[in-house]
Amino acid sequence: MAYELKSARFLARDALQRAVQPGDTVVDATMGNGHDTLFLAEQVGPAGHVYAFDIQESAVESTGKLLEEHHLADRVTLCCMSHSEMKRVVSGPVAAAVFNLGWLPGGDHAITTRCETTRAAVESALGLLKSGGILTVCAYPGHPEGDREREMLKEFFSSLSNRAYNVLHQVFLNAGEGAPECFIVQKL
Ligand SMILES: C[S@@+](CC[C@H](N)C(=O)[O-])C[C@H]1O[C@@H](n2cnc3c(N)ncnc32)[C@H](O)[C@@H]1O
Repeated sequence: MAYELKSARFLARDALQRAVQPGDTVVDATMGNGHDTLFLAEQVGPAGHVYAFDIQESAVESTGKLLEEHHLADRVTLCCMSHSEMKRVVSGPVAAAVFNLGWLPGGDHAITTRCETTRAAVESALGLLKSGGILTVCAYPGHPEGDREREMLKEFFSSLSNRAYNVLHQVFLNAGEGAPECFIVQKL
């Protein structure tokens, strides 16, 4: 991706590119169609590993296909389960955890990430981060559940001790209501 200051996903990827090193273990908490999983698999290299989560079997299938096409399936564990359960599979420490909230592009909008499970998953991911590791969240206000998630994240991340975490909230100020927002948290 060329440098273009226009999307929350770009901001998240820019940070991930700097924070994730070959050999790292990372989490994609919302695999969807697998674009972030593929990106992470490339970043961690052959010695690293990606754990990817989604509640929809169709997401797991399309992500598996994408990884096969790129010959990267062996460095990824695909989990058809809620990200709020990630500690059942991942013991950490991880260099990054990536959340891209909302619904599967092209899928059923009723199957979206939800405030309560997102909160539980973000807490789990923070607990798994190694020192220097980052958590990125792209949030999509502008629909009721997205608005709730954004408010929950602002409140929760604001409450974190600045002795333990650095927290950044990036908003495109001139993009209007409902524009995607990016949160980046680094464990100190
Ligand atoms: C915006 S999409 C993710 C896009 C994806 N990162 C990509 O690169 O294609 C959000 C995904 O979160 C998934 N999701 C919703 N609730 C979830 C949960 N509790 N645990 C894990 N995934 C969830 C949805 O099924 C959907 O596929």
